[in-house]
Amino acid sequence: MIQRYKICVCKTKSCSERFSKDVKEKFIELVRKQRLGDRVCIGDGGCYGHCTIGPNVFIIGPIPDDQWEDYRTRDFLPGDDGPPKRIYNGVSPNDCLELLEKHCLKDQKEAAS
Ligand code: FES
Repeated sequence: MIQRYKICVCKTKSCSERFSKDVKEKFIELVRKQRLGDRVCIGDGGCYGHCTIGPNVFIIGPIPDDQWEDYRTRDFLPGDDGPPKRIYNGVSPNDCLELLEKHCLKDQKEAAS
């Protein structure tokens, strides 16, 4: 069974000034390099209300197959019920590979074994 995830990076002004755009671009690059595009999507977050400790990243999933299209295409709101969510604060581009491995790739390997 494929484990699918959505990764959202907050993007409004104060976190943008602390490189949230670079974090999002790094996730996009890693997903492309690891060929995870069919199971990991990267989305924009709004402001999650933790700007002083941003950029903040939500990792949502695993997302059930019947909810994947919905989560893949719409904005994510932190208060949504649904798949598990983890938030990471103060994320830098250097943290992105570790987060991807910790959640998305680890689960993928476990699901395959
Ligand atoms: S813009 Fe990042 S939490 Fe507010």
